[in-house]
Amino acid sequence: MTHYACASQEKLSELRQKPQVRILAIETSCDETAAAVVENGRTVLSNVIHTQIPLHMPFGGVVPEIASRSHVQKIGSVVQLALDQANLKLSELDAVAVTNGPGLVGALLVGLSYAKGLAYAAGLPFLGVHHIASHIAANYLSYPELEPPFTCLVASGGHSHIIAVEDYDRYRLIGRTRDDAAGEAFDKVARVLGLSYPGGPNLEKLALEGDPNRYRFHSAFNEGDGYDFSFSGIKTAVVNRLHNAEQAGEEMNRADLAASFQKTVVDILAEKSVRATKAQAGEAGKKLALAGGVSANRALREAMEARAKAAGISFYCPAFAYCTDNAAMVGSAAYGKLMRGQLDDLSLNAIPYLSIEDTSEAL
Ligand code: KG4
Ligand code: ZN
Repeated sequence: MTHYACASQEKLSELRQKPQVRILAIETSCDETAAAVVENGRTVLSNVIHTQIPLHMPFGGVVPEIASRSHVQKIGSVVQLALDQANLKLSELDAVAVTNGPGLVGALLVGLSYAKGLAYAAGLPFLGVHHIASHIAANYLSYPELEPPFTCLVASGGHSHIIAVEDYDRYRLIGRTRDDAAGEAFDKVARVLGLSYPGGPNLEKLALEGDPNRYRFHSAFNEGDGYDFSFSGIKTAVVNRLHNAEQAGEEMNRADLAASFQKTVVDILAEKSVRATKAQAGEAGKKLALAGGVSANRALREAMEARAKAAGISFYCPAFAYCTDNAAMVGSAAYGKLMRGQLDDLSLNAIPYLSIEDTSEAL
């Protein structure tokens, strides 16, 4: 163990006696510069998010270099605001946590370097957190009574995973997408429908005006009894439908197309995750959580809740503020790591492709 980690370990025994442990958390894995202060892993004292949406909008998607540069510009003021809103000074905090992967490497490095600098300057323990573990932990903020084991569907721009959360630091992959992530499929279809970035929320808005039963998009792969997903065929079916209509000079109702696409994806996600939950033994078979940016989608939340209820399963999903990327969820995930003494060294690197199972200690 290095000198820095050793010094921090000494502080741990003191920390474990404290009634309030406060973590400054930082998230810069993609297009949000975010900082938060979280107490005891469940109480959010501040949650500041600077979105880069206007910067990336002209390009129709996230431009990694623009994202990194904007993080560099904003990180200082976002962190300061998170401290101000929590009414705390850096010296009054107990640890600094940051997302170290997966994500855009240049973007991750901004938050990671900044967090290291703060931890070093203030002599605080330092922790790197897995982005998907953070999305899952967003549920602990909204349900302070929720504890593992439970089953979780993580649907974001880069992930569509069904995960058995066996403990706070133990994850087992049950199912995953074979191609596009759910959010990615939303974004790509939104683009074809002429909607601006960010595609997912805009597609959801358009779908509100459409008939979800107007078009049917079958997908043999998703109709099987496995737990893996495939969204690329559905996306292509929507694109083909639109192009065929254009070539034939027919006017298609884009809202109906958006609503039908959304219903297809939502039904698959809800059906598979409820079936996967039912197959788990013990408590994990009785609790289903939702996480990741797509968890902000009302149609998905409602469909999952209804299916879970019908199967006698309790359903959890984060408050809207904690669905898409934020730092409060990082502070929640980091708390357990801190209390278990899983501190990181200042040589911790950014890892753009980091599997959730790699973070599991006991697997
Ligand atoms: O978790 P997140 O903020 O970033 C990643 O870790 O990827 O997720 C972003 C993804 C994007 O693909 C976005 O379009 C999608 O989540 N998303 C939505 C909605 N809000 C965000 N998809 C469908 N409906 C929404 N309301
Ligand atoms: Zn995310």
